[in-house]
Amino acid sequence: MARGGIREKRVREGRLVVVSNRVADPKRDRKAGGLAVAVGETLEATGGAWFGWSGEISSDARKAKPQVRQVDGVYLVTIDLTREELDGYYFGFSNQCLWPLLHYRIDLVHFEQEYYDEYRIVNRRFANLLAQFLGPNDVIWIHDLHLIPMAAELRQHGCKQPIGFFLHVPFPPPEVVSALPRHHDLLKDLMAYDLIGFQTKRDTACFRNYAMQELGAQLLRDGSLQYASYRIQCEAFPVGIDVDTFAELSTNAEARKQIEFLQQSKGSRVLIVGVDRLDYSKGLVERLTAYREFLRTYKENRNKVVLMQVTPPSRETVKSYAQIRRELDRLEGDINGEFGEMDWTPVRYIRRSVGRERLAALYRASRVGLVTPLRDGMNLVAKEYVAAQNENDPGVLILSRFAGAAETMKQALIVNPYDVEQVAYALQMAINMPLEERRERHQALLASIRKEDVHAWSRAFLSHLSGTKRGFAGILPLDRDAQLQ
Ligand code: ADP
Ligand code: F6P
Repeated sequence: MARGGIREKRVREGRLVVVSNRVADPKRDRKAGGLAVAVGETLEATGGAWFGWSGEISSDARKAKPQVRQVDGVYLVTIDLTREELDGYYFGFSNQCLWPLLHYRIDLVHFEQEYYDEYRIVNRRFANLLAQFLGPNDVIWIHDLHLIPMAAELRQHGCKQPIGFFLHVPFPPPEVVSALPRHHDLLKDLMAYDLIGFQTKRDTACFRNYAMQELGAQLLRDGSLQYASYRIQCEAFPVGIDVDTFAELSTNAEARKQIEFLQQSKGSRVLIVGVDRLDYSKGLVERLTAYREFLRTYKENRNKVVLMQVTPPSRETVKSYAQIRRELDRLEGDINGEFGEMDWTPVRYIRRSVGRERLAALYRASRVGLVTPLRDGMNLVAKEYVAAQNENDPGVLILSRFAGAAETMKQALIVNPYDVEQVAYALQMAINMPLEERRERHQALLASIRKEDVHAWSRAFLSHLSGTKRGFAGILPLDRDAQLQ
């Protein structure tokens, strides 16, 4: 980079600056993950800058300057991490403490003080670099559990810009959150934001409860919180997808080719699709168990259905992920061994990411979308499945009640993913559902995902954020009687 370094590439004043752990180049990456997809689509529409980890490790990362690229009007500003930082901040605190905790899995939390220290060090380093890059009128939007302390660090640099935070994963009740060592020290830093966004009303209510019970914040009449002299807004902003673009993808020439190929290879069999990163929160073991139950109970479906499960590995060095991978491999083998025929493989398990067109084609060719996480912030796969359907002959979505998406996608077949008999029954219902009912449900689901698409999500968040003003609370009277569900 020329003299003057990063300042020369500085974002134009008043632009949107997004910060997240991962930064995805929309031209090159086919990353599996809701955050990358939603943020990428927002920035494509608004322009601005995206700051975060390059995905690389290097031994001199702490001394190196950020790498800056411009792709379609968006500046991608990335830094490498050292091995030590990656192990402590990402694999350690983010993925062995916060991820299981926020997905209600206290049993999988593995806390070590060094993880937490490294998490804080990386947040400080991100903030030190970002502070040099900001213009006075920029609006800063920080994403997800990896970067909770970042606003507090930026405030130390005197940053007065509006700073918003969006949590892509669930926020559980205070009883769960308070099991995390250092939770007060960590979560009080959320109070440095002007706006905190959650996926669902339930998450928002849990956070307000936590802030009141554990941090001593007070709830104001408009639902915001007063903490010391600050007022922090917190609201639900359900994340969505770009419905039209995804629907188009599922009908373009490449998708049509893929659909034809899928139809030939499945013959007259009914396709059931599951698409998830390999993560214990996705309920994959329970899903395969339910599918086995379905084949055992509703015998007429043998040799007539195929479950296509597309599951790229993630966070492979973390023990709980390696374990779930082994369990899935075993279960897939068991099912194919128990029911398979010379000409029929009941479960086809693909362990990698596939391109967006192939994914859209796979959804469209599938009669059933099986989305059964044990806990999920939102789940964009549910929305993509609906967007990709042929409106005249749509498939049926089976959706876990524990996905954030279930708060609005009520016309799906809503199931309890732990109840394998119920999920097996839902599969039977979906496969036999009359066309008219499929159409009615699909129309309603399509309307709901259109109403809350990715553009509505970012518009709502950003307009709230630009309307916030960090300052003394007291404009609104306290609502001491306010109760939360
Ligand atoms: P999460 O963010 O927890 O991974 P979501 O369902 O919200 O779950 O988002 C997953 C995103 O990643 C979706 O946009 C989905 O299309 C994409 N994705 C998941 N698995 C794959 C895969 N195997 N290949 C390509 N994209 C994938
Ligand atoms: O919010 C959690 C999240 O960022 C998802 O949006 C995304 O799918 C996933 O985690 C990606 O995980 P990782 O960056 O650890 O691969």
